[in-house]
Amino acid sequence: MKILVTGGTGYIGSHTVVELQKQNFEVVIVDNLSNSQAEVVDSIEKITGIRPHFEEFDLVNRELTEAFFKKHNDIKGVIHFAAFKAVGESVEKPLMYYRNNLVSLMNILESMISNGIPNLVFSSSCTVYGQPDELPVSEKAPIKKAESPYGNTKQISEEILTDTIHSSSVNAIALRYFNPIGAHDSALIGELPLGVPNNLVPFITQTAIGLRKQLSVFGEDYNTPDGTAIRDYIHVVDLAKAHVVAVKRMIENKMKNSFEVFNLGTGNGYSVLDVIKSFERVSGLPLNYKIVGRRPGDVEQVWADPAWSNEELGWKAERSLDEMNASAWKWEQVYRGKNSSK
Ligand code: UFG
Repeated sequence: MKILVTGGTGYIGSHTVVELQKQNFEVVIVDNLSNSQAEVVDSIEKITGIRPHFEEFDLVNRELTEAFFKKHNDIKGVIHFAAFKAVGESVEKPLMYYRNNLVSLMNILESMISNGIPNLVFSSSCTVYGQPDELPVSEKAPIKKAESPYGNTKQISEEILTDTIHSSSVNAIALRYFNPIGAHDSALIGELPLGVPNNLVPFITQTAIGLRKQLSVFGEDYNTPDGTAIRDYIHVVDLAKAHVVAVKRMIENKMKNSFEVFNLGTGNGYSVLDVIKSFERVSGLPLNYKIVGRRPGDVEQVWADPAWSNEELGWKAERSLDEMNASAWKWEQVYRGKNSSK
C-alpha cells in the first residue's frame, strides 16, 4: 500500500518513513530539500533495507504537484509534513511562511481531490492552544490567537481542512504535536537544524559537543515549581508511530468523523531545568548554561492531555525524558564523527 510522505527527508518525516516501512507500507517521499539533505534517503535505506522512492520538487508548484499525483494516483494516503517551522523566522518573513505552508497544502488537497485520493494526515502543533486556560490541554480546548505567522499557518491549515472535508471526499486527521525531541536508536537519522538551533535540545547537544559556548535558559521567573518554562517533550519515534496508526485508521475506515484532531504528547510536563538535568544524567557531562531573560512569545507552561489519542488511536508515547536525551546525544556525537558507531 503506497503512502506519500511530504517532507520525508526532514526530522519527523524521516522517522515516520522508517516506521511506515517497518509496517510494510510502500513509501514515496516528496521533498524540496529546503531544510534537509538527500542523504537521509540513504540513511533510511540503511535502517530498513528498503529504499523509499524520492522525488525532489516544491509542492508550492501547482503543475508539478498535479503531475506527480497523476503519476502516483494509486497512493492510499498522504502524510503532509513539508512546511517551514521556525517561529522567529516566520515573524521576519511572514509571506514566505503563508505562501509555503498554505499554498502547498491547497495544492495537495486539490490534487488529492482530482485524483480520488481520500486520506490526509496533517502535521499540526500544540501552538494552536497558545497558553491554555486549563492544564493538561485536551483537544476540546479553545484555539487561541496565534503567537506567530508560523502558528497562524497551522491554525489556518486546520480551517482549510475543515472546509475542504465538508465539500469533498477527502478525510483528514490533524495531529497536534507537543515538543518532539530525540533521534532514532540507530543514530542514522535525527534532527539537523541549519545554523544556530532555536529549539532547546539541539542547542543542548551542540553545546555539550563544543559547537556552542553556552546554553541560555530563557527565564526563571515563570509561575512554575523551578521558575523555568514547562513543555511536554515527546520522543520522535513515539511521534512517528502515531502517524502510522493514524494513516491505518483512515485506510481501514475507522474514523468517527471525516476530520479528526489528536494531541500527540506524553502527558508529562518538564521544565527547562528538568531537561538539562536529564541530559547531564544520561551524558555524564556538566552542561554550561546561564539563566537569561524570557524569550518573547514563549508560553509559560503547556502539556498534553493524551487521553483521547490513547483511547481512540490505541497509541501511547512510551519513551522517557532520559531516553529522549540519550538518543539525541548519541545522534549528535555520531553526526559530528565523535562516536565510533558511524
Ligand atoms: N529554551 C531555552 N533556551 C534555548 C531554547 C529554548 O531556554 O536556547 C526554552 C524555551 O524558552 C522553552 C523551552 O526551552 O521554554 C522549549 O523551547 P523550544 O524552542 O525547544 O520549543 P517551543 O516550545 O518554543 O517550540 C515548540 C515548537 C514550535 C511551536 C512552539 C509553540 O518547536 O514548532 O512550540 O510554542 F511553534
